[in-house]
Amino acid sequence: MTRTQQWGTRVGLVLAMAGNAVGLGNFLRFPAQAAQNGGGAFLIPYLISFALMGIPLLWVEWAIGRHGGGFGHHSAPGQLDRLGPYRWLKYVGVFGLFTNLCVAAYYCYIESWTLAYVWHSVAGTFRAVDPQRFFPDYLGVTAGSMFALPLPALFFFAVTLALNTFVLSRGLEKGVELAAKIGMPMLLVFALVLAVRGLTLAPGDPGVIESPLVGLNFVWQPRLSGLLNPTTWMAAAGQIFFTLSVGMGSIHCYASYVKQKQDVALNAASAGWMNEFVEVVLGGSILIPIATAYLGLNVVQAATAGGSGFGIGFLTLPTLFNNWGWFAPLAGAMWFGLLFFAGITSSLAMGQPILSFLEDEFGFRRTRAALAFGAATFLLGFVCVWLYPGGAFDEFDFWTGTFALVVFALLEVVIFAWIFGMDRGWEEITRGADIAVPRIFRFVIKWVTPTFILVVFLGALFQPQGRAWGAAFWKLFGGEMWPFAPESVIGRVLHVGDAGYSWLDAAGAPTRAMVQDLSRLLLLAVFALCFFLVWKAWRLKARREK
Ligand code: PHE
Repeated sequence: MTRTQQWGTRVGLVLAMAGNAVGLGNFLRFPAQAAQNGGGAFLIPYLISFALMGIPLLWVEWAIGRHGGGFGHHSAPGQLDRLGPYRWLKYVGVFGLFTNLCVAAYYCYIESWTLAYVWHSVAGTFRAVDPQRFFPDYLGVTAGSMFALPLPALFFFAVTLALNTFVLSRGLEKGVELAAKIGMPMLLVFALVLAVRGLTLAPGDPGVIESPLVGLNFVWQPRLSGLLNPTTWMAAAGQIFFTLSVGMGSIHCYASYVKQKQDVALNAASAGWMNEFVEVVLGGSILIPIATAYLGLNVVQAATAGGSGFGIGFLTLPTLFNNWGWFAPLAGAMWFGLLFFAGITSSLAMGQPILSFLEDEFGFRRTRAALAFGAATFLLGFVCVWLYPGGAFDEFDFWTGTFALVVFALLEVVIFAWIFGMDRGWEEITRGADIAVPRIFRFVIKWVTPTFILVVFLGALFQPQGRAWGAAFWKLFGGEMWPFAPESVIGRVLHVGDAGYSWLDAAGAPTRAMVQDLSRLLLLAVFALCFFLVWKAWRLKARREK
């Protein structure tokens, strides 16, 4: 057995936790989600979700993590097991393995694009090749076949995983913590440089058609209109989940290496607020303002369709940097470099719970555990790389990066407040606390947060066509079927809107629907495997104790 590890310093811990939260979500997903959902109209539901769901979940997850760490459990199954007398609790913790593993698979793929793009920016590729064409070619989308393997992309993916595996194998303090201590400051510097350069663009500069401040205003000026729109609320809540890394089991793991009497309340709040600063202030002042300056707001809104930010981040921005003359390669290297640092400090946080699980429950050595994580992520990620054009990537993103988080968060907060109980729960959150946590949060954690998540969950399940809730209820009262939207959870399962749904097309070739269904089956199989490993671990434990 390896000796229990610990964080080196408090600064290191907070930076690692902030690095966990600050990721691609802050710089790509946030601006795209904001632009898609009406800019400032998105902001108020977003901030309310942060206060009523984000912050309480951070405290709950830090508390569950530190509590479980006291029993030598650094991953979710063991930590949930310690919250009550029921044997099924540890199986809820399966989510804390499954989600991290599957999100890591596609997340590291995005991370690898950023690495490749640092290289191509410096090498001057975007002066020779139109960035608008480069990206689809790189992903294999334009290859003509759904099954063409994009080899350069696979290469950078393998390099990215090797880096992650290497850092993880060095252990908490010398690996994860050190990476955060280097990565976070670099990222902040790069982001500041780009934000300043972008915001000082002025009409009259070559190519600039509008003030970048128009873009900034669009994102930052709060507008009340979003409050009444359920879709805006769902997008805002989803972004809060993803950006804070809550509902993953990742925070639990990092928090479990905190000593029992050490503060969690202030640390959790600091890391959370740091993430919000980076997201709203820095994330909001690069992509949208620069793109607005050159393209105008309407084009920017069109370019963020889908809400992932890939289009605007990988196609548009490198194109626009070309207006910056000698600074263009450097700007590209900084933009993709900051994305890379943001990405790797997050993917490490997805890997660590897997390592900890294998170490604690199966007695793996650290290096072996890191290699196991690297290999598993490579296998799963390979599916995302290879079948990207067929939609495998999007399936991973939706089921694990959006849906599973909400399920796990709902279960854990209910278990924490109602099974573990708010008396013990409050003691866990406030023990050793360096701030006075407002007592209102006792009430919020017990009632408001679970209700909030439940509403979001039901909303995602039943989202109606055209997002017209009123009309959908009328239909139901009129005796008709509920009109599921194609992007609702049930709509996806039923392939609503996929006219002539079939695994093979008229020519007998596999369809997107087949890739989607097989990806889902694969994810189910991974879940089952994680479930089995937890079952097995506890059986071994029971034998040992006999
Ligand atoms: N919060 C990260 C981001 O904003 C994503 C993440 C998910 C990190 C899960 C760790 C665990 O990109």
